[in-house]
Amino acid sequence: MPDVFISGRRLAYEAQPVHFHPSALSVLFIHGSGGDREDWRRQLEGLSGVATMIALELPGHGDSDPPGECSVPAYVRWVVDFVENLGLQKVMLVGCSLGSAIVQWIALSPKPWLAGVGLVGAGARLKVLPAFLDGLCQEGEQDKYLEMLSEFCLSPSTGEPLRTALAEKYRNTPPQLVCGDLLACNEFDVIQRVGEISLPTWIVVGEDDRLTPEKYARFLHEHISASRLSVIRGAGHLAMMEKPKEFNELLGQFLVDVGLVAGS
Ligand code: COA
Repeated sequence: MPDVFISGRRLAYEAQPVHFHPSALSVLFIHGSGGDREDWRRQLEGLSGVATMIALELPGHGDSDPPGECSVPAYVRWVVDFVENLGLQKVMLVGCSLGSAIVQWIALSPKPWLAGVGLVGAGARLKVLPAFLDGLCQEGEQDKYLEMLSEFCLSPSTGEPLRTALAEKYRNTPPQLVCGDLLACNEFDVIQRVGEISLPTWIVVGEDDRLTPEKYARFLHEHISASRLSVIRGAGHLAMMEKPKEFNELLGQFLVDVGLVAGS
């Protein structure tokens, strides 16, 4: 697994293709609470012929050094440093849930390398159900709440293999890491500012998303002028994992339509 060292801490990532040129378009994926690069497995494998696909693991997640952070601005600094450390020159940032908050924050003070934005299972505010926050941040029933969270992430129609894999992943995730991530989400609120995002923006939501309902995606679409909204049937909060084929087709088409890659 390749990595970079920033402020003495290891940040892990996966790039497909493995060898890439930093001046070419990269799509950089940022996972959500308790996530890792595997959340983007089907994009890494399915879209690497279109542009360089890179999945970063935030501090404390996957193979990146702990600890995690408890605020969106703190995570933003790692992502910006990562891009600049790799010398990426043209980036579409795609974030899911907590990742979408990080991406919105960066898009509100855009960098010269930022060429496009993807918001998956997103909201301009990400207030968390108090029962989840308390259950995950207080000792006692954290395992029960991690299991509930993994259930809430998925559409009722999502099949057993992914359901089991996600539950297993959350079982092996330290509750304090997810607690920090959810605290970061809970504090996040750019409702008043999100209309300032001017970059081409793809907003995608699963129609069965219970954590960031379609209403949140529609709000983003109404306020971000250069945006496109895609609603994916039969997907919940993790559309890139639940409906990867549809997700990849929509993302590939968006890249062509906004001129980030050439059409075939
Ligand atoms: N975009 C657009 N509208 C939003 C929004 C967003 N990101 N976040 C909240 N709103 C709306 C709500 O729908 C509500 O509208 P209404 O008055 O028409 O019903 C209003 O703003 C106030 O919402 P909020 O401040 O969140 O308070 P609340 O008491 O209505 O709801 C929760 C609090 C936690 C119950 C609610 O946010 C929720 O169900 N969240 C989803 C579950 C969750 O934990 N998600 C995790 C996100 S990572």
